[in-house]
Parts: sequence; C-alpha cells; structure tokens
Amino acid sequence: MTTTAPVQLDLQRAAREHLWLHFTRMSAFEGADVPIIVRGDGCHLEDANGKRYLDALAGLFSVNIGYGYGEEMGEAAAAQMRELPFYTNWSYAHPRAIELASEVASLTPGDLNRLFFVSGGSEAVESAWKLARQYYSARGDQRGRAIVTSLGDPPTRVDEAKAAPTGGRRWKAISRNIAYHGTTMGALSINGIAAIRAPFEPLVPEVLHVRNTNRFHRPPEETEEQFTKFLLDDLEETIEAGGPETICMVIMEPVQNAGGAFTPPEGYWRGVRELCDRYDILLCADEVITGFGRVGAWFGSDRYDIRPDLMTIAKGLSSSYAAIGAVVASDRVMEPFMRDTSMYAHGITFGGHPVMSAIALKNIEIMKRDRIVENVADQQDAFRATLEQLLDLPIVGDVRGTGFFYAIELVKDKDTRLSFDDDECERLLRDFLSPRLFERGLICRADDRGDPVVQISPPLIAGQEEFDQIVSILGDVLAEAWTRVHK
Ligand SMILES: Cc1ncc(COP(=O)(O)O)c(C=O)c1O
Repeated sequence: MTTTAPVQLDLQRAAREHLWLHFTRMSAFEGADVPIIVRGDGCHLEDANGKRYLDALAGLFSVNIGYGYGEEMGEAAAAQMRELPFYTNWSYAHPRAIELASEVASLTPGDLNRLFFVSGGSEAVESAWKLARQYYSARGDQRGRAIVTSLGDPPTRVDEAKAAPTGGRRWKAISRNIAYHGTTMGALSINGIAAIRAPFEPLVPEVLHVRNTNRFHRPPEETEEQFTKFLLDDLEETIEAGGPETICMVIMEPVQNAGGAFTPPEGYWRGVRELCDRYDILLCADEVITGFGRVGAWFGSDRYDIRPDLMTIAKGLSSSYAAIGAVVASDRVMEPFMRDTSMYAHGITFGGHPVMSAIALKNIEIMKRDRIVENVADQQDAFRATLEQLLDLPIVGDVRGTGFFYAIELVKDKDTRLSFDDDECERLLRDFLSPRLFERGLICRADDRGDPVVQISPPLIAGQEEFDQIVSILGDVLAEAWTRVHK
C-alpha cells in the first residue's frame, strides 16, 4: 500500500522529525525553530515566515550569480531533461559534458585542459588525490627523466635508485594547517582542522600539514619577504622529512578560507611552484571556493599565477544551481593516462550528469554575458573600503581577504591581538553572534575553526547597497558583542 503525503505538510515539525542538518547540533531545535529558507532572489533569501535576509555568504561561498536566475537555469535543465535526462561518463560521453569540459578548459589557465567530472568539492579533492597517486605509477619509474633541480639550474637526470625506491609509487599529500577540503575520508584526511578530523580517526594515513599564510599573529616586525621565506622553508623541510619520493601532491587553496581568508604573501606561490618542480610533486590548487570569479578573476590560479598541475572546482562551476564539480588536469598529468592500456581507475555514476552539465554551461554563459567576474574586479576596492570601516570597532582586529572573499578577525585586545579562548568563542560566536546576525537579517558565518572570524562572501552580483547593509548590521552586532564580552 502506498501513502500519499499530507496536503499541507507541517514543515517545521517534519524538519524536526526527519531532516538531519549538516554540521549542526540538532538538539538546538528541541525548543527552537529550524530555520527554513523558502525562496531567493538576487542577494536575498526569504524564510518560511516571510522574513528577508541578505545572504552575505552566497549559500556556502557558492551561489556566485545570486538567486535570481532560476527561470533561465530551469529552462536549460528542462531542455536537457527532455533530450537526455541521464547518461554517464563511465565509458561514454554526451554532448553537455563534452561542451562543459571544453568551455571550462578554455577558461582555465595554462594547459589545464582535461576535466574529470564529479558531484561536488569533496569528491573533487578525493579524486585529485587518487589521480595524483595513480599518476606516478602510470608514469612508471622515473628512469632517465629530466627534472629541474631548482629554478635557473639546468635540468639534471634523476638518480635511478633515489628516484624510484618505491617503484615509482607515491601516495602522501601535503596540505595546510586549518585548511578545509571536504568531508569524505580522503578529503577529510587532507583537512587541517583537528576538530573535524578527530571523530573519524584513524584517517587515510600520511597527509603532512604545513603552515598556512595567516600573518595576523606573526611578529609585527617580520617583513613580507621574511614571512614568505619562513613559509617556504617550512614546506621544504616537510617535504624533505616526509621523503620527497613518496609525496604525490601538494594541495592548497589560492586563498585559504578556514581560519579566515588567508591571502598569500608576495612570492609565496612562485616559491611553492618551484619546490613542487624541484621535488617533482604535483601541485593542486583547490579552487572549490576561489574558482569562477570570487577573487576577481576566473580562477585564483590566474590571480596569483599559481600554474597548478591539478585544479579542483565545484560550487561556483554551476553557482550551486547543480551538484557538479571536477578535477581539471594539465596535459602533463594526462599524458601517462593516454598510453597503451593505462586508465584512471576511478569513477562515479553521476560524474558529468547531463542535467548538471547543462546547468553549469548556462551558468558560465550567464557569468560571461552579465559580466559577473568583471563586477567583482570593478567593485572589490569599494567592498574592501566599506568593510574596513569595521576596523574602528575595538573587537575587530583584522579585515582580510580579496575580491568578494573576506574575513573579519575578532580580538579581545586590539593592541596585543589577543584572541578569545574556547569558552569565550562558544559564548561569543555560537550563542550570540550567529543567532543575532540571523535575527538582524544578515547571513554570514561566525567561524572558529582557527581564531574567531566572521566570514563574508556575498554573491558576485553584489554592489555598494549590499556592502553598506552588511557593514551596518555587522557594525551594530559586533559593537553589542563587545559590550557583552566586557560586561
Ligand atoms: C576549498 C574547499 N574544498 C573542498 C570543499 C568541499 O566541497 P563540498 O562541500 O562540495 O564537498 C570545500 C567546501 O566548502 C572547500 O571550501
């Protein structure tokens, strides 16, 4: 016997009884409402009670074109549904996946020309790591292969015994402290956030973590050049200690989100690229957030001239109107997989799903037509200037980021840059800031995965009106937070 759904489902009750929210303390809803978002337009959302919010987080750093393109995207999806609702990239191609791969390849820098589609960011990271691992065995041992030992030096031949003590196999990954790269076991293992790793240990072994580019708590007299050297020395020491011949991938975001929009110091990416070349390690730029305009260029790799061998993309690829992501590989990485019987031994049913691909294609068409990336490039200085007004508040220690990707670090003492302890963070961020901002109609994220920050990352269509509204609400709420802390 089948049952039919009640005509009018009590959404609040049904949410409490049946829906499990991600990264959410469900006990919070025993005596309180589940926030239910029912519609969106532009940079705004509306909840089930008709209340409007400015979404200063663009969903999850991801609704790049904002919420107003449903009609157009829906038409693209419906047309694809009629033509071919599903087929797989498992052994077969279909027009939308081919077109999307070509379109993205035309946008990505350098020779990042090959796309392997997946369903989201975690799967992209997972797939990048697996691809990097298999790349070395697919390439075979490194006999006679020329590598660059350091920039400017002539290429030398690799010492056979030294180069291939593992038979050419490599498996370790390097990522940065506090970085977030997703939640599936491989991607989770790459994360540098202790609190989300701990419940699932033991994780996939042998990920090494290096320092991130957080400069706020470094000695004030340190120059940018010294800071860059300090970071690159740490990376090189980690590579040496881990055994370069066992390390397949360095994975980093162009601008690190977790911990609060850590931008790279001058010379950092050039140095990372050089180290990867010197030790023959693949460099993966995790562009799940920074891709598709967020930092004022199509990719963070353009913005910082990163020249990665691999790139992971998701969120902004479809502006999150569809569940789609990809690993983008350079021609060099692809090369061994084009030989003889070689095959990347990985796949998922939904990779390159035609409806998801059609939506992503439409998203890129809209981004080009409506000059979404240009909007970020044009408005980013105004956005920064507006956010920097918050520096007048005693609780705001730092405003950092770039493009439409910012974090505001909260401090207990501005002069000493003293941070809040765990208990204070709990009271300040979870108990006060998050609910109060939401109550005031502003969605942004109070985050304590590193030092406490408020993350701000609006849809890429935002302009001065939205910037002013963000700063006005944040200013009030942060001022109130300060009086609470010091009461
Ligand atoms: C840099 C980065 N990589 C990977 C992921 C995981 O993406 P998803 O949530 O789509 O699995 C995220 C998600 O926020 C991310 O920010």
